[in-house]
Order: sequence, then C-alpha cells, then structure tokens
Amino acid sequence: VTPTRIARAEPDELGACQAAFERAFSDGFSEAEARQARELLETERCFTASDAGGIVGSTASYRFELTVPGAALPAAGVTAVGVLPTHRRQGIVTSLMRAQLDDLHERGEPLAALWPSEAGIYRRFGYGLAARNARIDADRWRAYPEIPRSAHVSTKLVSTAEALALLPGIYDKAARCQPGFYSRSPAWWEHHTLADIERLRRGAGPLYRVVAERDGEAIGYALYRVGRNWVDGVPKNTLEVVEEVSATHEGTRAIWEFLFGIDLVERVRADLLPQDHPLFVLAREAPRLRWRLGDGLWIRIVDVVSSLQARSYGQPASLALQLDDDFCPWNAGRWRLEGSPDGGQLTRITSECDVRLDSVCLAAVYLGGFSFVELGRAGKVQELRPGALARADALFRIPTAPWTAGAY
Ligand SMILES: CC(C)(COP(=O)(O)OP(=O)(O)OC[C@H]1O[C@@H](n2cnc3c(N)ncnc32)[C@H](O)[C@@H]1OP(=O)(O)O)[C@@H](O)C(=O)NCCC(=O)NCCS
Repeated sequence: VTPTRIARAEPDELGACQAAFERAFSDGFSEAEARQARELLETERCFTASDAGGIVGSTASYRFELTVPGAALPAAGVTAVGVLPTHRRQGIVTSLMRAQLDDLHERGEPLAALWPSEAGIYRRFGYGLAARNARIDADRWRAYPEIPRSAHVSTKLVSTAEALALLPGIYDKAARCQPGFYSRSPAWWEHHTLADIERLRRGAGPLYRVVAERDGEAIGYALYRVGRNWVDGVPKNTLEVVEEVSATHEGTRAIWEFLFGIDLVERVRADLLPQDHPLFVLAREAPRLRWRLGDGLWIRIVDVVSSLQARSYGQPASLALQLDDDFCPWNAGRWRLEGSPDGGQLTRITSECDVRLDSVCLAAVYLGGFSFVELGRAGKVQELRPGALARADALFRIPTAPWTAGAY
C-alpha cells in the first residue's frame, strides 16, 4: 500500500476530484453535473487523498448559513465524501474528516451538516441525526386533502426565469423562522434548485414550478415533476413533489390543494416534508398518505461555545453539561449553559454536572429534533441529577420541529 497524502485541493483539481468521487459511488456524472460542481464548489473547501496513482478520496463543503432556533449560523454543507473501492478500510475517510473538521474549526464555522448515504459512518466523527423528515406515497383520491378554497389565494405556473425572481423571497421568509433551513445563493437557485438536470429526473418528466399568491403577493411554491405511466390507456401517473416551501400556512394549504388536484395522477409522492406537516390532519383518509418518518439532516457541532451561545432557549434557566467529544477535543469537558430566549452563555466549570452526553446527542438536541428525555430513555444521555433531563428539555424546546425542505 502506497502512503496517502491529504491536502487541500488545488484550483485546477476539481475535475479530478469529481472523477474520483464518481468512481467512489460507481456512478457516471453528466456534463451538466460537472458544470454545477464548477459553479458551486470552492476548491479551497475541498480536501483530497492521493497516492502515487492520483486522487483516491475526497470531501468538500458548501458555505451555508443554517437556521437554528432564534438565529442563523455559518455552517459547512459537507458533500462529495468518497474513497475509491480499491482504497477502502485504510483509514482514508477518517483522515479526510480530520482535515475538514480542523479546517472548519480554524475558519470559525461553528456547525457542519450532511445527508449521509451511509449512515453508519458519521457518528464516529461526532455527527448526529438532528431532524426527522416525513415521506408520503399517497393514493391521490383516497388521501385528497379537504382544504376550502380561499377567494384571495390563487396559483400560477411560472417559468424558470420567473421562479428565479419569486422563489428566493418566499424561501428566505420561510427560512428565517424554520430551524434546519440552509441559505441559498442566487447561483445555488440557478445551478442547483432550478437546474432540472436530466439525469437526475430518474425517468420522470421536466420540473414544473407553481407559485401561490395572496392578493398578488407570492406566499408559497412547489417544484414537482410527473412520472408517466399509462396502463391499457388509463393514466396511472405519479406526481413527485421535489419541494414545497411557503411563507404562510395559507400558502402551504393552497399549494397542496393544487398538487392533489393535478389530473391524470394516481399517486402523490414527497420525501422531504416536515414531521408536523398539516397534510396528516387535512387528508381525507390519513392512512392512504402512507406516511413514514425517516431521517433528515445530520449535523456536527464543530464549536460548542459559539453554537450554544448563538441559539435561543425556551425559558431562562441554567444547565451543567458534561460533554464527551473525542474527535473534536476542544469541545469536551464540563460546561455551564445559562440560556434565555435571547441566547446563551457557556462557561467552563469544574463542579458536578446535571447531564452527561456526547457530541452525537448534542447534535440531536441542538435544533430541537430530539428531546433529552427521549435520548435518556434510549440510554444515550445520562441524568446525573434527578429531574435534569426534563429541565434540559424545557431549556432546549422549540415550537416547531426542525425541517430541511431541500436536500443538497
Ligand atoms: C464509506 C467510505 C467513505 C468509507 O471510507 P474509508 O476510507 O473506507 O473509511 P475508513 O477506512 O476511514 O473507516 C473509518 C471507519 O468507518 C467504518 N466504515 C467504513 N465504511 C463503512 C460503511 N460503509 N458502513 C459502516 N462503517 C463503515 C470502518 O470500519 C472504520 O471503522 P473503525 O474506525 O472502527 O475501524 C467509502 O467506503 C466510500 O467512499 N463508499 C462509497 C461512497 C459512500 O458511501 N460515501 C459516503 C457518502 S455519505
């Protein structure tokens, strides 16, 4: 085995990085995807593992802001993690994760986030599941939501250019109060969200864009495509909802009324719904939604001080935390958190603590996706003082579950 060198990617190495990533996933990217990577990836945020034969592994991250309770924080959107099948189980991804987390720490980016393809890998690096997403595979007629039409709200189909003008405003309004949302740049909207790359349609039709308006103001949108399937002359098409984001509850209702009303469709599918989506309550027959709860965004608290100080808390209270974090030891130790709706204060202490948890569990509670009591029941968080888990929940609780509308 030749030694592997870990380094920041050179400006001209993006193509080679992508080729290695392609082989790690045994995939074949189109020219459109290569262009997307050139537009959105910054080489100085990519790390490569190379041996004498060239690049054998990579990791990269987008520069985002992630909405957390009461604030938005710089967060690295980790992507392109892969090692060639010929070089697996030699510790290469471990070295890449080490380089990346050290770099983020030096940059002062307090959070990292990812959508794992292999969920078994990332806990050892301190990432934890922070949010759950709901999925539906609905029988359109039996699940049809009972939504009264409002005379003030209308829907319209828009072109890509109109979508580029209207959708970011709706998204930004929704993102402001929704923990789990990441910021999108104009380039991201153009080259990612609205790019409609043919290979990624998975056999379905082109991307459609619908906008809901109230008295002329855009309040919600959805992106969707239709998978065509005619059997014996009968349409049995499937509507794939790529994402739905609304700035008001009325917008959400109007968009779903529109989506379930599209003709020639038998099934309505969506993968990235919030776990408390109103469809469950609105459906004519909820079981016909075939509602499933799955894993959503994973996060890593890169810097515990800035992360815990930036978010807001349910009520003024104090909690002493003993944090285990072997991979990012600068976070480890005993801390006192003084939290209030205006933010937090974190200081090192030497006295006894209320709860003991590791960085995976801290990620789970940070956005409000999981409770301390729930993690305690699973034996993942230790209650060192009676009643401490319930007190911790009162501090970390948020009114709506965290949710990320679009994967990246
Ligand atoms: C998954 C992948 C990145 C792991 O890379 P690697 O260099 O082989 O990983 P390492 O050798 O550093 O292994 C780190 C640890 O993870 C474990 N591990 C590696 N791959 C794993 C997998 N697929 N599932 C569960 N554990 C895994 C190893 O056993 C090792 O554990 P240990 O420290 O207890 O010995 C690589 O196999 C790969 O590129 N797979 C295909 C693409 C992919 O799935 N990428 C992940 C995208 S989210």
